[in-house]
Amino acid sequence: MTIPAPAPPADPPRHRPIRSFVRRAGRLTVAQERALAELWPRYGLDFTPQPLDLDQVFGRRAPRFVEIGFGNGEALATMAAAAPDEDFIGVEVHEPGVGHCLLRIEALGLANVRVVCHDAIDVLQRQLPPGSLAGVHLFFPDPWPKKRHHKRRIVQPDFVALVADRLEAGGILHVATDWAEYAEHIAAVVTASGRFSLADPASGRPRTRFQARGERLGHPIWEARYRRD
Ligand SMILES: C[S@@+](CC[C@H](N)C(=O)[O-])C[C@H]1O[C@@H](n2cnc3c(N)ncnc32)[C@H](O)[C@@H]1O
Repeated sequence: MTIPAPAPPADPPRHRPIRSFVRRAGRLTVAQERALAELWPRYGLDFTPQPLDLDQVFGRRAPRFVEIGFGNGEALATMAAAAPDEDFIGVEVHEPGVGHCLLRIEALGLANVRVVCHDAIDVLQRQLPPGSLAGVHLFFPDPWPKKRHHKRRIVQPDFVALVADRLEAGGILHVATDWAEYAEHIAAVVTASGRFSLADPASGRPRTRFQARGERLGHPIWEARYRRD
């Protein structure tokens, strides 16, 4: 009797991380294209897997805030214009939004904003040092409403733990959504992390494009600020 040779090992499963976004092919306007070419050297930060020296990036020491998924960047630019003594880093994967944001930064003459065009999870994990942030803003993250897509939602236990590690003690995670069931999920995940306490409600957050859209659809707006313990 011949013993059959063992089957070759199956190919290891290809590891494709679950992303919280799909890259949309959105067309760049001529102005956005110019902004990406000409303004990127001034306001853009290329993704690097090494932690940045943020004091060097901004040429000073100041409280630093990151906005994840800034869309067209209007809220980012407005907040930065209102707080010249603070620094802001916007992270967005959608190029036309990045182009739009660069144009706003230039129009407002802001020196305290930098933009990264890359997955915010990588940016938090690799590019931003632990304890380096005074705040993380997450305004109207994609709700991924279908149950089979819930795993794509950016707010998951690992994400909340990562944000907690990048925030300094007392730093603020500020979240808003127009999707009631996602709000419940966010509140549950942040509470279960045991790393945050509920902070005072927000004052003066600029209204965003997706907030306006939610309001048009009659969605109630939910918002919470959590302080890192
Ligand atoms: C629903 S939109 C909200 C945009 C904006 N904050 C607003 O309120 O108008 C969500 C944005 O998050 C971006 N996004 C989703 N996941 C991301 C990630 N992992 N890293 C960077 N941007 C992300 C998407 O490209 C999209 O522009």
